Amino acid sequence: MATSTLQTKRRAIVQGEAGSKTIRNVPIPSISPSEILVKTIAVAINPTDHKMPDSFPSLGAIVGCDYSGIVVKVGSETSGLRVGDRVAGAVHGSNPIHHEDGAFAEYIKTSADLVYHVPGIFSWEDAAAIGGTGHGSLCLAFWGALDLPGRPEAPSTKPEYVLVYGGSTATGTMALQLLRLSGLVPIAVCSPHNFELAKSYDIRQFSKNTLFYALDCITDATSASICFAAIGRAGGRYASLEYCPSHLQIRRAIHPDFVLGYEMFGKPVALTGPYKREPAPEKRKAAVEWYKTFTSLCEERRIKAHPVRNVEGVLEGVLEGINMLKNEGVSGYKLVVRMHAE
Ligand SMILES: NC(=O)c1ccc[n+]([C@@H]2O[C@H](COP(=O)([O-])OP(=O)(O)OC[C@H]3O[C@@H](n4cnc5c(N)ncnc54)[C@H](OP(=O)(O)O)[C@@H]3O)[C@@H](O)[C@H]2O)c1
Repeated sequence: MATSTLQTKRRAIVQGEAGSKTIRNVPIPSISPSEILVKTIAVAINPTDHKMPDSFPSLGAIVGCDYSGIVVKVGSETSGLRVGDRVAGAVHGSNPIHHEDGAFAEYIKTSADLVYHVPGIFSWEDAAAIGGTGHGSLCLAFWGALDLPGRPEAPSTKPEYVLVYGGSTATGTMALQLLRLSGLVPIAVCSPHNFELAKSYDIRQFSKNTLFYALDCITDATSASICFAAIGRAGGRYASLEYCPSHLQIRRAIHPDFVLGYEMFGKPVALTGPYKREPAPEKRKAAVEWYKTFTSLCEERRIKAHPVRNVEGVLEGVLEGINMLKNEGVSGYKLVVRMHAE
């Protein structure tokens, strides 16, 4: 194990009162037989890292989801991983019932079967930007909610259209790659500046009224209305990455589903309203299989990270990055922060 035997504490971003975020020294967690301990080398910042503390504050919860790092300890029942391996993925940050789960910490624990092996060609920053929040949620959206006919390991023989609303988001650029690898044809709507263009460019007419699948990475009144209008006469499936209220679901022939990536961990998602979910072992199983496929895609150089922008300053830099994302937003890049030199 690479942590000093004397080291029992790690620095982490922990929720304070009313979802505020502070840097604290907290215990390095013990791992179960199926888990690994990872020394985080880089972390990436997602919208959920400010949304969760704001909407579901939980005093003492560690914030953060996406990371890359080096395995420093393996549980007795894990297989295929060794101390020193390069891994990346996502954990359930800001978890109200498992406070120690978050990624914004010097060391983190995670399930051994929900990581991808980071090939040497990826920088630590790219590996964290890829993380697991985006592609893990897309696994649940594409092969659960939308039930797409193709997947990277078994591409569709029929090149069906899939609408991706918010194609320039980090999740959107991953979606476009996975759809093409799955033998499908993405149609992307990209920028808020182009609403009118998207409306005038009749997607329904372009797809000859056959569009069946839509992924909404934005989920507001405009995105939902364009997605619902674009799906063909026969109806179809609509997967949103945020909650889409029923008054925006304007066609009964379209089956809507709000995908929550946190379900990939197979544990209860202890939030409220439409964000609350019971444990879904079948979603965890799908995610575990997906991570194996995803490791192969990365090793075969078939996956590219969203462009990254580094923020300096370790955990202080993470706090700054969360504020930047919340207050200014990002356009075409993901904020990443180095945690350790290596
Ligand atoms: N449910 C889940 O499990 C799950 C998982 C992952 C993400 N999400 C959610 O999905 C959303 C996207 O996350 P992300 O990390 O991929 O985003 P991101 O990369 O931070 O998104 C930034 C991009 O959003 C685009 N954008 C902003 N408003 C837009 C609008 N109204 N229409 C079209 N594009 C717009 C901007 O495009 P331009 O620069 O071109 O203007 C910008 O490039 C967030 O709401 C996030 O919370 C949910």
